[in-house]
Amino acid sequence: MSERTLVLVKPDGVKRGLVGEVIARIERKGLTLAALELRNVPRPVAEEHYAEHKDKPFFGELLEFITSGPVVAIAVEGPRAIAAFRQLAGGTDPVAKATPGTLRGDFALETQYNLVHGSDSPESAERELKLWFPDL
Ligand code: CMP
Repeated sequence: MSERTLVLVKPDGVKRGLVGEVIARIERKGLTLAALELRNVPRPVAEEHYAEHKDKPFFGELLEFITSGPVVAIAVEGPRAIAAFRQLAGGTDPVAKATPGTLRGDFALETQYNLVHGSDSPESAERELKLWFPDL
């Protein structure tokens, strides 16, 4: 059974020219692209996207970062797409958790600048896809 997940290449990934690398790994895994767009992130979208982190000490910094430059938003589709992309991304902390061979393990050093976002559950995927791709 196919499902969809929201992937963001965050501003660090776009600035570093790693969009192609992220897309290549998604496609090589066998997942497909259902929608893709380069976008600036309005502050209210950032706040809604990260609503579950609003009480965290890093929330302010997180909003500053995600609105600091364009992101590439991608609706990714395939069997177990949510878990499959999280496998490709690696753990949130790119050094302590992500292993070599994953996007974060190979290309990131700091938790804030961890290159990509992927929805963490079917509920998050539904909510995030409605927010980023309402017409999909
Ligand atoms: P993401 O998967 O987009 O979901 C929440 C984001 O918050 C996470 O990736 C990190 O970029 C960021 N984040 C999580 N923990 C921390 C932290 N301790 N300090 C700074 N940023 C964090």
